[in-house]
Amino acid sequence: MKISILTLFPEMFVGPFDHSIIKRAKEKGLVEIELINIRDFATDKHQMVDDSPYGGGVGMVMKVDVVHRAILHAKSSVILERSDNAAIESHKEDPISRSRSFQDDNKKTKVVLMTASGKPFKQAVAKEFAALDHLILICGHYEGIDDRIKHFIDEEVSIGDFVLTGGELATMVITDAVTRLLPGAITDGATEDESFSLGDDHPLLEYPHYTKPQVYEGFAVPEILLSGNHPKVAMWRHEQALEKTKRVRPDLTKK
Ligand code: ADE
Repeated sequence: MKISILTLFPEMFVGPFDHSIIKRAKEKGLVEIELINIRDFATDKHQMVDDSPYGGGVGMVMKVDVVHRAILHAKSSVILERSDNAAIESHKEDPISRSRSFQDDNKKTKVVLMTASGKPFKQAVAKEFAALDHLILICGHYEGIDDRIKHFIDEEVSIGDFVLTGGELATMVITDAVTRLLPGAITDGATEDESFSLGDDHPLLEYPHYTKPQVYEGFAVPEILLSGNHPKVAMWRHEQALEKTKRVRPDLTKK
């Protein structure tokens, strides 16, 4: 799949995707992560990406036309990769008409705006995103983006009930959570038995894990894990997961 990140600060992304599982997923061709600088789509000579709010008030608002052009560019880059015909060439200089011409081609694409006022990002949403061909993530900044952007996006997503300075860290979190779910990114089966993997109807945190040494500073590994009795181990793990969920996230068990 392809993940396009629209940002005013592409330099913030140096590092987070260059290690461990995400790095390997990129090398294996499971995911392509593209950074698009929103400023490249400003058309005036000062390359303005924001302006003062209508109606007054503090802060600056990101301009809808600039962000919209960046979205259309992101959409059309996948279309161009998929096909090489001359019709596409003729649209190259005009992202708006180019995107309109090929909208039907674009079914498994989603445009998602990062904002503290969006719907909560959960494991179920990560799974939904991992099934797409193209995920386009937009990082908001300043006081947000002109509200008319809602006509050009599919959804708004928040990574938690707190306010970040911008959407960049949120897109890093989402890119990580989605990439590790792509088939082949991590050991087969590893994502089936972890926190939240059973979905919203059966929320369960993960059971505890142990490895050597068997005793550390007087703290021993639970006996049951040394017994070799797999059904009993499975039962114990389930009980532990239930107990931890009740203790740490009582809100999840009150359904
Ligand atoms: N931008 C600012 N705060 C955010 C949040 N909590 N989630 C996603 N994007 C944000």
